[in-house]
Amino acid sequence: MLKKRLRLLRSTPFRLALAFGLLFILAFLVADIITYQLLKRDLAQALDDSVRDTYSIVAATYSSEEEEEDFVAAVATYARLNNPEDSIFLLVNEKGERLAGNVSVFMAKDGLSTIEAGDIGVKGDDRIRIQAGTVGGNRLIVGESYSDTNDLERIALMSFVWASGVIVILACGGGAFFAARAQRRLDGIERAMSDVSAGNLARRIPLEGNGDDIDVVAGQMNEALDRLSALVEGMRQVSADIAHDLKTPLNRLRMTIEQAMQQSGRGVDVQPFLLDAREESDRISATFEALLRISQIEAGARKARFLPVDLADIMSSVAEIYGGVAEDNGQSLAFATRPASPCMVNGDRELLTQLFVNLVENAITHCPPMTSITLALEAGDGSFTATVADDGPGIPEAERELVFRRLYRLDKSRTTPGSGLGLSLVKAIADLHGAQITLGDRHPGLGVIMRFPAQQQGQGT
Ligand SMILES: Nc1ncnc2c1ncn2[C@@H]1O[C@H](COP(=O)(O)OP(=O)(O)O)[C@@H](O)[C@H]1O
Ligand SMILES: [Mg+2]
Repeated sequence: MLKKRLRLLRSTPFRLALAFGLLFILAFLVADIITYQLLKRDLAQALDDSVRDTYSIVAATYSSEEEEEDFVAAVATYARLNNPEDSIFLLVNEKGERLAGNVSVFMAKDGLSTIEAGDIGVKGDDRIRIQAGTVGGNRLIVGESYSDTNDLERIALMSFVWASGVIVILACGGGAFFAARAQRRLDGIERAMSDVSAGNLARRIPLEGNGDDIDVVAGQMNEALDRLSALVEGMRQVSADIAHDLKTPLNRLRMTIEQAMQQSGRGVDVQPFLLDAREESDRISATFEALLRISQIEAGARKARFLPVDLADIMSSVAEIYGGVAEDNGQSLAFATRPASPCMVNGDRELLTQLFVNLVENAITHCPPMTSITLALEAGDGSFTATVADDGPGIPEAERELVFRRLYRLDKSRTTPGSGLGLSLVKAIADLHGAQITLGDRHPGLGVIMRFPAQQQGQGT
């Protein structure tokens, strides 16, 4: 539980929430202080206005020297009706004697000023705002206590304190709530990923379905996991296929050796058996070499060595070299269709040559005599289409994807020489060059169609 709390404190969402909460509180405090200062100023202004107004009203009761008695009586009435703790009234003659008032005599300069209540013998520790002046030869002093102003200020301050408290609680609580929610989902991701690391490749991150940023990232991670598990599944399949397919030649090798042992026991010459065994082991080692080569090509390191090469040039040299071989086999080979200008692509000359050699060799080995093999190259919009076609038996629709798998051979080809890696290598080389490869039916025959992207301007050397 404590560990969980500590983790929440360290989590990014919680820290973000906390930072925003603090920022919010700070903004509110600044607004508070400004409002409080404005209120204070307004209240002081209102008090000044009120004191001045009262002074004017009292002073207005004075009309002439003859009726001074009335004026004194009016001040005395104000003084009697008001508590000196709230409002003070004082009328002093030239000799410094009090004519009327609710406080003892004291001196004050003309105009507005502030005095302490204690200094003039009034109860309480509030200060008093006073207005003093001369009316008909006498000093008139009118004052109002700051107590109401102070009360209002106190109320304002208290309401700010309470509001701040509520905001702090809301900011922290809300922050913790949202942080915990985000944390829960991050925990879900963490759990899913550690499950995957532990080997459960089928595990996916649960999505909330609201399309927010965490969902988007989680969705992308799920897609990556889909691809990863498909790749791992593919690898597993390939390893199983390889192990299965290599068992046959290894068994054959073992049988040959056993036969040789039996024969030598009978004193028969074992030379032919040894030759067989050597041939078999050569084939096995060639298969391994081809497998390694395919893996290396798939790893893509050779892409760094790509140079602009002319596809037409490569195809015509393959056609030239294998023309004789096909003829010896009673077949014909022609590079019929080719554009007038060079067909430049970025690639590896050796690998591309290997690609066309494999396809031509396949046509030669898997087709009967009298077959005509044709190579064609056409320039399209930003791409070149290379075709190697024959009018032999072709590959059934259902097996056209399977023949790209390592070691896969059609049943009828079991007797012809080969390891079932030729088309896997073709596919690896085409993929490395960004070329699309499809196997088509020529009615009759097989057509291998590859679309190579043309070399871009400024690409290569
Ligand atoms: N031109 C073709 N005509 C008919 N079948 C073909 C042709 N090319 C390939 N195949 C079939 O596809 C299989 C796989 O080819 P490949 O990977 O080159 O292996 P391999 O040639 O060693 O048997 C071959 O065994 C053959 O059955
Ligand atoms: Mg082959």
